[in-house]
Amino acid sequence: MFSKEVYSKRRKALKEKLSSGLALFLGNTEASFNYPANTYHFRQDSDFLYFFGIDHPDLAGIVDIDSGEEIIFGNDVDMDDIIWMGNQPSVKETAGKAGVTITFPVSKLASYLKEALNKNRKVHYLPPYRGKNIIQLGELLSQTPAGIKNGFSGELIRAVVSLRLIKEDVEVEEIEKAMEIAYHMHTTAMKMAKPGVVEREIAGTILGIASSMGKGVSFPIILSINGQTLHNHYHGNVLKEGRMMVTDAGAESLMHYASDITRTVPVGGKFNQRQKEIYEIVLKANQETIKVVKPGKTNRSTHLLAAEIVATELKALGLMKGDVKEAVQNGAHALFFPHGLGHHMGLDVHDMEGFGEDNVGYDDTIKRSDQFGLAFLRFGKTYEPGHVFTIEPGIYFIPALIDQWKAEKKFTEFINYDKVETYKDFGGIRIEDDILVTSDAYRVLGRPIPKTVSEVEEIMK
Ligand code: GLY
Ligand code: MN
Ligand code: MN
Repeated sequence: MFSKEVYSKRRKALKEKLSSGLALFLGNTEASFNYPANTYHFRQDSDFLYFFGIDHPDLAGIVDIDSGEEIIFGNDVDMDDIIWMGNQPSVKETAGKAGVTITFPVSKLASYLKEALNKNRKVHYLPPYRGKNIIQLGELLSQTPAGIKNGFSGELIRAVVSLRLIKEDVEVEEIEKAMEIAYHMHTTAMKMAKPGVVEREIAGTILGIASSMGKGVSFPIILSINGQTLHNHYHGNVLKEGRMMVTDAGAESLMHYASDITRTVPVGGKFNQRQKEIYEIVLKANQETIKVVKPGKTNRSTHLLAAEIVATELKALGLMKGDVKEAVQNGAHALFFPHGLGHHMGLDVHDMEGFGEDNVGYDDTIKRSDQFGLAFLRFGKTYEPGHVFTIEPGIYFIPALIDQWKAEKKFTEFINYDKVETYKDFGGIRIEDDILVTSDAYRVLGRPIPKTVSEVEEIMK
């Protein structure tokens, strides 16, 4: 945990941002895997971690905006628990580490909330994303699951987003620890990417690295020689010369801060001419967009710069044609780059995505586009010092999408379909880094992971 002052300061800031009522934060419970007592690895709720820091199941926290009171509800272990799990610190003890002095057993939570509701006090809560928490909230607040799903507090979302989006120095340090794990995951994957190896051998190895150095992966590992499928979780292919292996993987630090890195390497360690040409375009989009990051600019404009670089260079290769600016404005480049440039990152790899992407990545001045491609940009708004986010351009040759657009004669003025046909066996390339917005520019987080053609070929030797 951070020092208790960190959590006290966050709760104080929260109280200043909310007008009145109670803010209720349900921690997570254990989640069953294939029978009740066989559970998934426990992951605490990120908002509970942010305001209370305690990484144990079955807790709830309340911040009373009007009285200023802060309470943790939780049960101390009994002898049965001690026999199976060993001694555990008391709730009072762990709450103290978060700067909270008032604790109650969980059985008191329902009556505490009932009393507040009877007094017509507002109980703010964030959108729940687990069935068990929806049911528990429903019981606590006398609501149906549907009522609970719709009854979250927009005011609380805005307050929490404004706090969690601006990373404190101690949080950046944690993210850098997650980056160091990612360094080992990715350099190991690169060295293992030899013909004849099965994807799962590499995916399993780097999964082990994430668990041995931190709290495991920050999202399921994407590792495939079919990188044209953006989130490919199938790991059963045998690596073959001539294919490229996309590895999109990150870890959680011991305090659950994420990293999220993508590298793409040629199986066997040597780029062929066609791979090198496409790779250099994605690399340019990655490097040139990172350079423009500074407070006051929007990530939407950075995304569009990436799109323009992709379109310009694909035109130079003969895959696109016509006026580049017009092509990008119309979204023609999205045949090859159909996703957004990146997303915020922190305690969640897609930070606070459960609040609704638009509540995190957009605001009243920057609205989400509905154009194919640009519509998938999760983060469009203006950079502020303390933002941590990903830059992850890519180029993909998705046969089904190419066939569909070609059949529809879509953007024939911008796309050279005859040439694109010859790339349908190519796969995809993505290069992703994690960036901090500083007071005047940016910092790429973590130890540099091989990225240029020569760096990648060198480490794979
Ligand atoms: N979690 C995949 C990505 O956003 O890069
Ligand atoms: Mn990623
Ligand atoms: Mn990402």
